[in-house]
Amino acid sequence: MTLLTKKPLLIRLSTYLFNNEAKRTESRNFQTATCVLRHVNPTNVKNKSLSSQLWLKRQLSDPYVEKAKMHNYRCRSAFKLLEINEKYKFLKPGQIVVDCGAAPGSWTQVAVKEVNSIGQSSSDQLGKVFSIDKQHIYPIEGATILGNMDFTNPSTQTLLRTTLGDRQVQVVLSDMAPTATGIREMDTENMLTLCYNVIRFAVQVSEINGSLLVKLWQCGQAKKLETEISRFYRNVKFVKPNSSRHDSAEIFILGRYFKGLEK
Ligand SMILES: C[S@@+](CC[C@H](N)C(=O)[O-])C[C@H]1O[C@@H](n2cnc3c(N)ncnc32)[C@H](O)[C@@H]1O
Repeated sequence: MTLLTKKPLLIRLSTYLFNNEAKRTESRNFQTATCVLRHVNPTNVKNKSLSSQLWLKRQLSDPYVEKAKMHNYRCRSAFKLLEINEKYKFLKPGQIVVDCGAAPGSWTQVAVKEVNSIGQSSSDQLGKVFSIDKQHIYPIEGATILGNMDFTNPSTQTLLRTTLGDRQVQVVLSDMAPTATGIREMDTENMLTLCYNVIRFAVQVSEINGSLLVKLWQCGQAKKLETEISRFYRNVKFVKPNSSRHDSAEIFILGRYFKGLEK
């Protein structure tokens, strides 16, 4: 019986919380993952905090983390873009793609392959990917990297437009997320600021019939954002891929068939 052991209260409490969180995580994984599940208990966690232990356990049990390693993707997020593209097929050889909030780079890796920017597919159409993040991004063959740049800074967007030259963009991606402050209203506000920046940029650089995929967190303003995107894109949907964690508030809006801007 746990309560009769002589362990200090704090350790018993941690063990209790850890085991219960583990059970909840297992049931969530069971509902959402499409791969074979592995439940791994981390070792060497003695000096780690409870939250670090939980994070480690989740990482080790997550089939997409394992799959990302196998396919050489920089992180598990790759599967979100792969899944969405598998269904809606908006990435095609020859396209110009802008990837906002690209670090560490797994969406860029997927985009490079899909648009054939290094000529590896059977298509003779070569695309191009421009990847931007406020963090450093290690080079990715086939992509033009703009690291250490804040997308919301007007000078960054000017530089991006200069880099694009007279090329119009077929796909704008944004997996950007602000650093969470823990204050819900502020986090939502910061997320929406990123989304509106991306929409404004996308409508300026996109070709008619282009696509926009933008991440946001489920919140009261999501519907309003969808309506805003519908002003510019003929087909707009909310998408939640299986690889997006069930307990995560993230959701994506996919806008397709850009209507163009009246000059
Ligand atoms: C979830 S990660 C993106 C993961 C990426 N799609 C991948 O597959 O590797 C979110 C990224 O958004 C970036 N980000 C957040 N705010 C930003 C901003 N204002 N400008 C540029 N990047 C930003 C963060 O630095 C972070 O790298």
